Amino acid sequence: MASTATLRGQTGKDKTGFSDRLLDWYDDNARTLPWRTGPAARRGGQMPDPYRVWLSEVMLQQTTVATVSPRFETFLRRWPTVADLAAAPIDDVLGEWAGLGYYARARNLHACAVAVTERFGGQFPDTEEELLTLPGIGQYTAAAVAAIAFDRPATVVDGNVDRVIVRQFALDRPVREIKPEIYAHAADLTPVARAGDYAQAMMDLGATVCRPKSPQCLLCPVRISCDAHAEGIASDLPMKPAKKARPTRYGHVYAAVNRAGAVVTEKRADKGLFGGMAGLPTSDWSKDGLPDRDDPFPADWVEEGAVEHTLTHFHLVLTVWRAGLSRLPKGYQWTEDMSTLPTVFRKAVEISA
Ligand code: ADE
Repeated sequence: MASTATLRGQTGKDKTGFSDRLLDWYDDNARTLPWRTGPAARRGGQMPDPYRVWLSEVMLQQTTVATVSPRFETFLRRWPTVADLAAAPIDDVLGEWAGLGYYARARNLHACAVAVTERFGGQFPDTEEELLTLPGIGQYTAAAVAAIAFDRPATVVDGNVDRVIVRQFALDRPVREIKPEIYAHAADLTPVARAGDYAQAMMDLGATVCRPKSPQCLLCPVRISCDAHAEGIASDLPMKPAKKARPTRYGHVYAAVNRAGAVVTEKRADKGLFGGMAGLPTSDWSKDGLPDRDDPFPADWVEEGAVEHTLTHFHLVLTVWRAGLSRLPKGYQWTEDMSTLPTVFRKAVEISA
């Protein structure tokens, strides 16, 4: 944090009053979200449960507010406190995480709950430094929990905040090349008071007004100090990075279903993609076009088409084979609830339904 009195961006727009304008706007426009304690309640002295704040932030790192909202409620009903989550079998947590992204996150989530319970007596620590010592908590999450749960004036920078800052200062380089500069500007703008509201106000502004496409500058409470708006380039920023080439991998996936609609699955290796989760049997995945079939067990396999799914490091194209089956082959299990499967497998079941 620093005084914003002399802070200026490319076109020299003065940033004085940035946080006050943003907070005034947030008072009237804060989104109602399941994990949020709104500005009026906070003003009345109510603070959110740090467990809820942490859980929501971890979930929101990989998927959207719309996807997270119902899943967040289910998670909390099942494990209302961090101690409940710590005591849960890891497989239950991984199952509940299905469709929410990387399972390494769910493993860290559980490890973090255990660490908070064992090392901190079930109370989340209230500083960025201590939060950073917990499994799976990096700079963003530590800052978000410190600010939102404890009103610490931490600098919270997520993708929405990146965009607000890049536009406010008209930074004309791709975000990933100027992370430290964005962080420094964000830190300069962060107020000492109402840090939790401010962090959430930045996120809401980015999500609802300072949107990636067609920013709503006429509705923006901080356009008066926005360099990109002054230059008429808000919708051109952030600059797009050069496209990262993602290799495509090909393979076969096998959906054997019984009359009740259950599908044959196997537990995947603990390490690697979808580690420890139930998945449909597959062939190896090849970089050089579709490999030969590699049926996991004899059945009347019928080709149903292909599913595509993009993961962080590659794009996957799987040819789907379907068969009816009544007897479970050895070493496999029946899965009835498709929502517990990683998304790519759920897609394979859906096209073969
Ligand atoms: N995205 C990530 N964290 C968020 C939060 N606390 N509120 C709104 N959107 C978010």
